[in-house]
Amino acid sequence: MSRPDTSPALRALQDWWGEMGVDADEAEIRALLKTAAQAKPASEPQAPTRKPRAIRKEKTHEDWVEEARQLALAAGSLAELKAAIEGFDGCLLKEAAQNAACFDGVEGAPVMVIGEGPGAEEDRQGKPFVGRAGQLLDRMLGAIGLSRATNVFITNVNYWRPPGNRNPTDEELELCRPFVDRMVELNAPKLIIAAGGVSAKSLLQASIGIMKLRGTEQVLKTPGGYSAPLFPIFHPAFLLRRPEEKSRAWRDLLQIQGKLEGIG
Ligand code: URA
Repeated sequence: MSRPDTSPALRALQDWWGEMGVDADEAEIRALLKTAAQAKPASEPQAPTRKPRAIRKEKTHEDWVEEARQLALAAGSLAELKAAIEGFDGCLLKEAAQNAACFDGVEGAPVMVIGEGPGAEEDRQGKPFVGRAGQLLDRMLGAIGLSRATNVFITNVNYWRPPGNRNPTDEELELCRPFVDRMVELNAPKLIIAAGGVSAKSLLQASIGIMKLRGTEQVLKTPGGYSAPLFPIFHPAFLLRRPEEKSRAWRDLLQIQGKLEGIG
């Protein structure tokens, strides 16, 4: 996938902001990218740029959501859905991202984990949960006999890395949602784990946060008529910052294990 016209220094700055947990405003990032492009010496080789999206101005947010819906509906397989997500130009986050982090793991697995969105490493590799938080997620899943190599499919509610690792906005989540629902329908999981508050709140359209949602059994219903039990858990990145919460996370994992045993 082609990359936007970003200098390594600016990408490093974005990564550094992200690691420091600083929220970078998108307009701020754009201004920096513009300044860097103007400052580039004429002899410096130009990175391939995405074709200008003049059409964007002619489409409203609702138009883009409808386009996402049509593209998602038309996808008859996960490979087609991945191609549709990668080709979708409705989300501005794509402009500064290196890759869409669509999914990883086993297609059709009984358990589907849905996180919040890619960080720096996920953006680089184009796969969800491959950074530090992903390594902890793998250990958490492993503790109850789950693994992305055998019985778990992993994705996010947003496919492109937000600048400075800020949370995705409601509009960005809305643009991805048709793809998320279709991914659930194509995978048909027996159980869904929502990793973190952003994911749980967005999937359930809930107004309460993860502190109240974790430890509860919910249901996700897609527009296509698929439904599955959904368990919100603490995000592994949160557990890296707050290891004292691991005992509650462990209880939640045991609850999920019990449910899976019941489902058979
Ligand atoms: N956090 C997420 O929620 N998803 C990822 O893919 C990586 C980190």
